[in-house]
Amino acid sequence: MNASYLHHVVIHFPIALLTVAAGAFVVALLHGWPGWRHVGGVLLALGTVAALVAVIAGLMAQDRLLALGVSEEAVNAHRNMGLITLGLSLVTLATWIALATKRRLHALGPAAGVAVLAVVTAGSVTVTGHFGGTLLHPEISPLPGVGAIAEAEPRPEDEPEVDEAPSEPEPIEPEPIEEEFARGAEVFDEECAACHGPDGQGVPGVGGPPVMGTDALQVDPPPDADRERRFETGKDVLDYVGETMPLDDPGGLAEEENRQVVAYLLADRGFDVSEELTDEEAEAISLDR
Ligand code: HEC
Repeated sequence: MNASYLHHVVIHFPIALLTVAAGAFVVALLHGWPGWRHVGGVLLALGTVAALVAVIAGLMAQDRLLALGVSEEAVNAHRNMGLITLGLSLVTLATWIALATKRRLHALGPAAGVAVLAVVTAGSVTVTGHFGGTLLHPEISPLPGVGAIAEAEPRPEDEPEVDEAPSEPEPIEPEPIEEEFARGAEVFDEECAACHGPDGQGVPGVGGPPVMGTDALQVDPPPDADRERRFETGKDVLDYVGETMPLDDPGGLAEEENRQVVAYLLADRGFDVSEELTDEEAEAISLDR
């Protein structure tokens, strides 16, 4: 499991816990219900631990994201907000612990103070989440230039694109390959697109690398990949996908589906394959070119 995947799983905990903690403190304050303060405190503590794990996993994942071509500004904004959120939740937690141990929380002033801090923390969680969203959907970013950067091909250091002006968004046309390899395309939409993107271009935040387009299916694994084997021939891809994909259900594809979806990926790379992709066909394809 890679760090960006872990980050994605873990971030939902601070998002939920810190927000509900703020709600509990506010309810406790408005109604004078002391039980809710304890609930808020426990949720706050759990949320702060989760935020710490999310920040660590996020920091570990950021190089990989940058290598995938995600805008550095967007990554920085998300990371900085994440650190601020962690700081705020630690301050709120420390304040709560200090006041609770001195038994001062029944007084209106201290209780209101903790509630305000918790609400600010929850707001910060929301802003952090928004910037996290801009990593996946750069078009919604308020940062100038982020959308334009993310439109460029991922991993620009590999092969500079000459024939494509990134400023002109490609019109979405029906791809003939999707008709010829309709069954593979269908498997892809259902089983793979969630992590590798609808057009196989990769989804940075989820950690699914590009599997279509010129950068995809390289002989050597992408930087930081867990993949160890090389993709010398189409057969290597067929075996790899059959054994390890979909990542959340490795080996979950029927043999036939595996052949169809890999045929679709190889056809996209310009190889002449049939929809059923036999072992012989796959072995004859050399990716080393
Ligand atoms: C739950 C997310 C997820 C799903 C679903 C998924 N993948 Fe992946 N896939 C990944 C991740 C993450 C990697 C990178 C693994 C690594 O670090 O080597 C990957 C790697 C790959 C690679 C190797 C790319 C390379 O250059 O190393 C191929 C090919 C691939 N997936 C194909 C598929 C196909 C085909 C499907 C659908 C049948 C699929 N994946 C479904 C997450 C997923």
